[in-house]
Amino acid sequence: MKVLVLAAMLACSAMLRAEEAVQKFIRIQTDDTELILQVAENGRLYQSWFGERLLHESDLRNLPWAVRAGSDGSVSRRGWEVYSSSGNEDYFEPAIAVTHNDGNPSTWLYYVSSHSEPVKGGTHTEITLRDDQYPVEVTLHYVAYAEENVFKTWSEIRHHERKPVTLTRYASTMLYFSRPEYWLTEFSGDWAREVQMSSQQLRPGKKILDTKLGSRAAMHMHPFFELGLGAPVREDEGEVLMGTIGWTGNFSMTFEVDNAGNLRVIPAINPYASAYSLDPDRVFTTPEFVFTLSPDGTGPGSRNLQAWARKYQLMDGKGSRMTLLNNWENTGFDFDQEKLTGLMHEAAALGVDMFLLDDGWFGNKYPRSNDRAGLGDWEVTRTKLPGGIKALSDAASDAGVKFGIWIEPEMVNPKSELFEKHPEWVIRYPNRETYYYRNQLVLDLCNPAVQDYVFGVVDRILSENPGVAYFKWDCNSPVTNIYSPYLKDRQGQLYIDHVRGVYNVLARLREKWPDVPMMMCSGGGARCDYEALKYFTEFWCSDNTDPFERIYIQWGFSHFFPAKAMCAHVTGWNRSTSVKFRTDVASMCKLGFDLGLDELEPEELEYCRAAVANWKRFSPAIMDGEQYRLVSPYECNHAAVNYVSADRSQAILFAYDLHPRYGEKLFPVRMQGLDPDRMYRVEEINLMPGTRSRLASDGQAYSGDYLMKVGLDVFGTLSGVSHVLAVTAL
Ligand code: DGJ
Repeated sequence: MKVLVLAAMLACSAMLRAEEAVQKFIRIQTDDTELILQVAENGRLYQSWFGERLLHESDLRNLPWAVRAGSDGSVSRRGWEVYSSSGNEDYFEPAIAVTHNDGNPSTWLYYVSSHSEPVKGGTHTEITLRDDQYPVEVTLHYVAYAEENVFKTWSEIRHHERKPVTLTRYASTMLYFSRPEYWLTEFSGDWAREVQMSSQQLRPGKKILDTKLGSRAAMHMHPFFELGLGAPVREDEGEVLMGTIGWTGNFSMTFEVDNAGNLRVIPAINPYASAYSLDPDRVFTTPEFVFTLSPDGTGPGSRNLQAWARKYQLMDGKGSRMTLLNNWENTGFDFDQEKLTGLMHEAAALGVDMFLLDDGWFGNKYPRSNDRAGLGDWEVTRTKLPGGIKALSDAASDAGVKFGIWIEPEMVNPKSELFEKHPEWVIRYPNRETYYYRNQLVLDLCNPAVQDYVFGVVDRILSENPGVAYFKWDCNSPVTNIYSPYLKDRQGQLYIDHVRGVYNVLARLREKWPDVPMMMCSGGGARCDYEALKYFTEFWCSDNTDPFERIYIQWGFSHFFPAKAMCAHVTGWNRSTSVKFRTDVASMCKLGFDLGLDELEPEELEYCRAAVANWKRFSPAIMDGEQYRLVSPYECNHAAVNYVSADRSQAILFAYDLHPRYGEKLFPVRMQGLDPDRMYRVEEINLMPGTRSRLASDGQAYSGDYLMKVGLDVFGTLSGVSHVLAVTAL
């Protein structure tokens, strides 16, 4: 009898413990959305809910059980394990795979503890999981930014085994969905064709968006996606997940529809050629994955991400940006002090803030007079620029503009003194013929000595030249000849440690030089992620500045980045378009120029000067306001976007006729984001001197309500025409 009572008591307390465990919910909440995790009976952690925020705590117990143990303790149904591991009862793609010292490839993670604390803009939740058979631990991190409805998540993996373990999967996180349909929009491309948007329905099996390029990482695929939940992605309606991984290297974003029709999303460093040997007691930190779930399409989702970036992630996100004149498209490598001084005066004549000197200013034994020599030797070419950087920055200062300079410090040409001195600093095979991308090779940033060198390049330029006010940091080659002389028999770490080496350099630079603005560039827009943007104030979207093409490129990037992070220049690409059309397109982002004023007619120069002044006047809306994508170039022969300042006193509408059809029916453009109860004056700006607006709305006053419900006629039937309307509260 006694035995029976004891058995009953034990059973009862076991049930209680199980009950307690299943009661354990972890809520990761923004103002409108939440992710709910649950510790299940088996002690493991599952996703219970991701969607609109639930109002009543008491409802949590009604959420479907994450996973239920059978009476014999076995797991009766596969659940949505938050950090699903290899070798368990889930037969689909895991978040983590570890080969232990004894060769066992399985890892089962059990909940240990969690806690939350307030951080700037939100709440940081930390959850610890541990294997019950091996001393392996994973810490999951989530930061929920309340107002912007943005989540940021990453993971840390550590172990205390005797020798290194091998990691073959190391996801940032995993998210699960159950919907009748899933539609993925990806942003793919190539040089001069960045962020081409295309969509497809996800079917059973895997779709992986990834890159294996190493350094010029996003040349073929950009590190972000949109996922339509239930229907294809739309701008103003439908539930959509928008996600981006902060990793300036090989990434992979896996979308797997399983046998039950459920979808898992796994953002991660690409494990390709990267079986990572992790030493005991060292921490492997995954990249941050940033995401937002919008119930009303990508428009609100983008505004969430743009606002979040300006407040919390982008370097100097709240600060102003400098307009500039660059010389790359104008002079290429062909310049000297006199020519550059002339351009600095042209910059001043344009009314921009800065002159930016591009590639071709360095190298003495092997001068950089083309892209075949000089990379690595960051000394001014004395024959070309005898006064050095100082004379250049002095000349800029005399002209009344700031001075910025181009560098590509992660690279080396074999024709350079650096390569002659340190061939062992270069990523390349010891036993194969070397192949080249743009005649250059990538420095081995896994090597701390190389990190010191790259840090020293930038540090020295800044220390010796207080007149340098800006860097354009380029990166034109992918990692080629994939072998690190430094890593020796641990080549699985190359792709990962190389990126970490770049971050080490950037972090050191920011420690010492916190305020210098820097443009991230990678042969156009092949680097554009939110980890790098902790160190860079902006990025170069593309070398393609043909305004027609550029509208698509800027449209694509705007889904994830605020306009102040995106550099756009007026150049000579597609000279058959008007200077006005080109400038109006560039004015939607951080405005710059890259052409000689001698190719402008006097009225064009006058127009440009006024456009720069207008851009500055409307920068509270363009740089720091909310952006509304109104008419998509992907859907018709026109495009329109408006920006509204935070206080809704100022807005600016950009409208473009791309390739209208003959006799096409035109519709008014309805603005968004205005105060419906305020009156606004509409005025067409950026007009060519001597011309008058032909729009009926020019000079008229309308309520915000009218502008948003009825809209304005701004489109026409001629190709390559643009209108910019200033909308100012009365
Ligand atoms: C590629 C960049 O995208 C260009 O703007 C220019 O800086 C060149 N590199 C210089 O080599």
